[in-house]
Amino acid sequence: MKKITIAIDGYSSTGKSTIAKQLAKQLGYVYVDTGAMYRAVTLYAMQKGFIGDGTIDKDSLVAHLNDINLAFKYNKYLGFAEMYLNGVNVEKEIRTLNVSRYVSAIATISEIRSMLVKQQQEMGKKKGVVMDGRDIGTVVFPDAEMKLFMTASPDKRAKRRYKELLERGDDVIYQEVLENVINRDHIDSTRKDSPLKKAKDAIAFDNSDMGLQEQFERIYSLTLRIIEAI
Ligand code: DC
Repeated sequence: MKKITIAIDGYSSTGKSTIAKQLAKQLGYVYVDTGAMYRAVTLYAMQKGFIGDGTIDKDSLVAHLNDINLAFKYNKYLGFAEMYLNGVNVEKEIRTLNVSRYVSAIATISEIRSMLVKQQQEMGKKKGVVMDGRDIGTVVFPDAEMKLFMTASPDKRAKRRYKELLERGDDVIYQEVLENVINRDHIDSTRKDSPLKKAKDAIAFDNSDMGLQEQFERIYSLTLRIIEAI
């Protein structure tokens, strides 16, 4: 079967990574979580003290971009690739609410975006990739054969994220998670460089009231139709 590029964009906590992982597994494609890359850069900035008390020392961070090595390593027990920052597995640390608080601001920095977009284009150049993020169908792979734009109500999304954080044992308050989701949507969709928006040729998919199985079946059959039509 011919390999294609699948770009999945959308607001935070719309279940992009869930459907991306399912599609990649079913099709034997590589899954790339580009949000993890922005999160890892944010974690690096925190570790180096470039983020503190609500401020970001952008100049110092940009001056150190060459010191940031990002890699995905496949974990066969989990069935997906985990994020490594300078050789260290940071999969857990990058998912904390603290990283979520700063990641959208970090993702507005053009120097960071252009570095990560290049790496993402390199990872997907042979096709057979499912990539999720905010600018995949618009900037990273504008020619992707399949583009999805995921949406769901802020309340549904915050509830999902809250549940995930609780399951991981994080001490969080629902209201904080909801505020973070709304705040990130705002920053992501109003930033100057590559704002989150639906590509003209993307298929919008609202999963507010849809179970995971139904979502997968619908999107998978759509994918097969696209692959067959090529
Ligand atoms: O998908 P996520 O919630 O893990 O993404 C974290 C943040 O990274 C998100 O708020 C915006 C940013 N991001 C981005 O700007 N472009 C991408 N391709 C992926 C994520």
